[in-house]
Amino acid sequence: MGRFEGKVAVVTGAGAGIGKACALAIAREGGRVAVADIDASAATACTAQIAAEAGHALTLAMDIADAQAVAALFETAERHFGGVDLLVNNASAMHLTPRDRAILDLDLAVWDETMATNLRGTLLCCRQAIPRMIARGGGAIVNMSSCQGLSGDTALTSYAASKAAMNMLSASLATQYGHAQIRCNAVAPGLIMTERLLAKLDECMQRHLRRHQLLAHVGRPEDVAALVAFLLSDDAAFITGQVVCIDGGMLTHVPTYADGGNSRAARPASDTADAASAPGR
Ligand SMILES: NC(=O)c1ccc[n+]([C@@H]2O[C@H](COP(=O)([O-])OP(=O)(O)OC[C@H]3O[C@@H](n4cnc5c(N)ncnc54)[C@H](O)[C@@H]3O)[C@@H](O)[C@H]2O)c1
Repeated sequence: MGRFEGKVAVVTGAGAGIGKACALAIAREGGRVAVADIDASAATACTAQIAAEAGHALTLAMDIADAQAVAALFETAERHFGGVDLLVNNASAMHLTPRDRAILDLDLAVWDETMATNLRGTLLCCRQAIPRMIARGGGAIVNMSSCQGLSGDTALTSYAASKAAMNMLSASLATQYGHAQIRCNAVAPGLIMTERLLAKLDECMQRHLRRHQLLAHVGRPEDVAALVAFLLSDDAAFITGQVVCIDGGMLTHVPTYADGGNSRAARPASDTADAASAPGR
C-alpha cells in the first residue's frame, strides 16, 4: 500500500523540474494526480509518464494567475477523480536578473507579475482546495517557497518577497484551517538542478552557489519530491505551519566564517591557530 492510495492530488507546475518529480512521487505511491501546467505539452508528457508506470493522472493546461482557469482546474479534478485531498502549489514565476533587480532598479511590471503568479496564484489554488478538503474530512497542502524567501539578496527582490509572503500564507492557512484537519507547510529549496535552471545559471554562478552548500552533492528535484511526499503523507500528521529548508545546508551557516575557514585551511598551521582564536568567532 502506497501512502497516497485513495487520495487525489493537484500539483501545479507539474510539467517539469520539481513539480514533475512531486507528481511522479505521489502517483508512484498510489495517488491520482491532476497535472497542471501552463505548458500543455510538458503536462501531457508528465501524465503519459505516470500512465506508463500504471498510475493515474489527468492533464490540465492552465495559468495559476488566472482565477477562472484555477477554478476550472479544481472543478475538473473533482469531477474526474471525485474530490481533492492534496495540493502542491509549485508553479511560480522567476525573472532572473536583469529584470528582477534591486529595489530602485526593478521593473514594476515584473513585481506585479511575480506577485500575481506566485502569491495570488497560490492563494487562488488554496481557496479552491480548502472547501473540497473540508468536504473530504481534511487534507494537506505544500507551498513551494525558496531559500530566497528567508534571506536578503542583491537582486530577485520581487521573487524573494513573493516567497516570504508564501511562507506567511502557509502559516495563516495552517492556523485558520487546522481545526478542519487541513495541514499546510512550506518547503524552501536551495539550489536544485532542474533542466531549466541549468540553462539559466552560468557555470560561474553554479560554482558559487555550490561553494556555499555544506553538502558536496547537488540538490535534485527528487530530493525535494521526497520531502513534499513526506509532508503530504500521514507520516507528517502532526506537522503544520512550518517552513522546511532543503538546501544542502546553504542557510545553516554564516558564509563569512565558512569563507574564512577555507582561507585558514590554505594557510600554515601557526596562522590557523591565531585565526581560530580571533575575536567574534
Ligand atoms: N530549482 C531551484 O533551484 C529552486 C530553488 C528554490 C525554489 N524553487 C521553486 O520550486 C518551484 C519549481 O521550480 P523548478 O526549478 O522546478 O521550475 P521549472 O521551471 O523547472 O518548472 C516550473 C514549471 O512550472 C510551470 N509554470 C510556470 N508558470 C506557470 C503558471 N503561471 N501556471 C502554471 N504552470 C506554470 C512551467 O511551465 C514549468 O513546467 C518554483 O516554485 C520555484 O520557485 C526552485
